[in-house]
Amino acid sequence: MDNGFIVAIDGPAAAGKGTVSKAVAAHFGFAHLDTGLLYRAVGAKVLAGSEPHKAARSLAPEDLESDSLRTPDVAQAASKVAVIAEVRAALLDFQRSFAARSGGAVLDGRDIGTVICPNADVKLFVTASAEVRAQRRFSELSERGIADSYETVLADVKARDARDMERVEAPLKPAADATIIDTSRLSIDEAVSAAVAAIAMAGGVKA
Ligand code: CDP
Repeated sequence: MDNGFIVAIDGPAAAGKGTVSKAVAAHFGFAHLDTGLLYRAVGAKVLAGSEPHKAARSLAPEDLESDSLRTPDVAQAASKVAVIAEVRAALLDFQRSFAARSGGAVLDGRDIGTVICPNADVKLFVTASAEVRAQRRFSELSERGIADSYETVLADVKARDARDMERVEAPLKPAADATIIDTSRLSIDEAVSAAVAAIAMAGGVKA
């Protein structure tokens, strides 16, 4: 297969992966897959009464489009289904096929550089302190009219970090060859510039 350039971007909840991934995909003209949406869509189906592995196997593209996937309840449900090996296995082929498209792909998630695309051309691990991440998520939720307190958001972020890092299947951790970008003290533009520089250095070419 004529594989394109693959950028793997991993990191914990609300570290800025989504923003950085979208910006670098636009910069280099690559396609972007937010793999968290796959787990969120499975989590949402489970909240609606489905069995996790059946929900994962029957996922359809339109399931990824709902705005309701970006709520705190769905985020927690996503991290609960994400510990299940059968769920992760059911989502693997879709992610690898997306990565293999010609023209380049950016995938963001938790296990892209370690499990989904261990041969990615560039691996970034985008992180920030739990407090900074909770503050960002709190502002984002407030702007969308979701009235959780900062303390609740911080507790949610920490609970998800623990579940994501301590699970047996594909735990969240930087790949040995990942470049770490700590965004705690970076603006969005600075974080994007750091990512663009790392990708360009690895041979990514601007479209
Ligand atoms: O946007 P945010 O960083 O809050 O979360 P997300 O990327 O949408 O991911 C939601 C949840 O899905 C995470 O807490 C993980 O438990 C799970 N996930 C995963 O296990 N593997 C991935 N590649 C992506 C997400």
